Amino acid sequence: MIDPASALDGQYDLLVRDGEIAAVERAGTQINLHDATIVDASGCWIVPGLIDPHVHLRDPGFPEKETILTGLRAAAAGGFATVAAMANTSPVNDSPAITRYMLERAGEAHCARLVPVSAVTQGLRGIEPVDFAAMVEAGARLFSDDGIPIDDAAVLSRALDVTMRLGYAVALHEEDRALSCGGALNAGAVAEHLGVSGYAHSAEPQRVRRDLAIAIGSGAAVHVAHVSTAASLELIRAARRRGAQVTCEVTPHHFTLDESAALTWGPNAKMNPPLRNRDDIDALHAAIRDGTVDMIATDHAPHDPKSKRMEQLGAFFGPGRQAGHLEHDAAEIFAHAANGVVGLETSLGLALDLVHRSLIEPARLVEMMSRNPAALLRLEAGTLAVGATADITVIDPNLEWTVAPEKFLSKSRNTPFAGMRLKGRAVLTIVAGEIVFDGRKA
Ligand code: DOR
Repeated sequence: MIDPASALDGQYDLLVRDGEIAAVERAGTQINLHDATIVDASGCWIVPGLIDPHVHLRDPGFPEKETILTGLRAAAAGGFATVAAMANTSPVNDSPAITRYMLERAGEAHCARLVPVSAVTQGLRGIEPVDFAAMVEAGARLFSDDGIPIDDAAVLSRALDVTMRLGYAVALHEEDRALSCGGALNAGAVAEHLGVSGYAHSAEPQRVRRDLAIAIGSGAAVHVAHVSTAASLELIRAARRRGAQVTCEVTPHHFTLDESAALTWGPNAKMNPPLRNRDDIDALHAAIRDGTVDMIATDHAPHDPKSKRMEQLGAFFGPGRQAGHLEHDAAEIFAHAANGVVGLETSLGLALDLVHRSLIEPARLVEMMSRNPAALLRLEAGTLAVGATADITVIDPNLEWTVAPEKFLSKSRNTPFAGMRLKGRAVLTIVAGEIVFDGRKA
């Protein structure tokens, strides 16, 4: 059992009763087991249910990409007991009615839990704020216009005043669009080789700098979503030294792949922010090690092949291949391919790679994938303490498997990890004492 919140790391027996953790005892026979169903988890890690603070479930609005049901099934299969679903649905989650719709669909799924993220502004238009208190009342636990940066500093500043009073954080998509210019890939050699438009490195830190200055001024809690550059990490460290209430997340694709993945995977390696370079990956690893990074988030962004322009571009890319320069028309089409990759079913395997390479200890992984996201979402979760709700993930850290997108429970297959060998995955996901994913049957 690995539970940093209770400072537990060792061999224990754990008893669940009525959806709660009823007992935790040193491995042996202390626990009274009459009538209990026994799960033999030898060789595995028992950890607090994993929590992903950043997913797109596309429901309402885009059932061809994902629904709440398929998204929560994918989450459970990836070891997640809880996911926070972003607001860029259609309609946008900027009203209590949409928040309630999301929670109702999730309740019917009897699977992983959904935590609604409310938009900050109506329609994600960056102008009129949502009714923050009403959104909290309906069940939202975080605010974000993710996908779109809040360009008007005054709008952000006023929003932070309210969210701070309510006790919730705002998650920020950090992009200065005057610098990113709608670029398709990180500006540099790979974008030039393919002939596609570049997304300047500076676009992210430029906006992080502004937003952290606002956060320091207000004392409000801000969360920097999908950090991708070394420069942004430096700014986060500096702002913390000045007292900013700032947390941040990184995605498995940003800490695993560099921009050259686009040569092989094309639109399936295109996301916002884009994959960066080797120096950025090294900086992300260092920040994961030294605690600058609070949590891992998938930014699970399911897209159908049409949105990814695979019909027009698929022929240029594929496993074992490296695309050459694209003709002007193809480069234009590439620029219009939807941003994002699915991540729920590969996140844990990619995070475990950090453990297998001795970059981090298992307890740090649990902190980043359960305890810290629970704190961001103001959830009483992320622990296996007696009395806690029995959200539990059982991980076999040594199970080797190959990423096979056709087997994903997600509706979408847009991943740059197809065919990758990974070591470790979830074998059981338990939510309130109920098994919602059983990988032993797979
Ligand atoms: O790549 C991305 N996809 N980045 C975002 O910020 C939004 C997301 C989406 O909704 O597809």
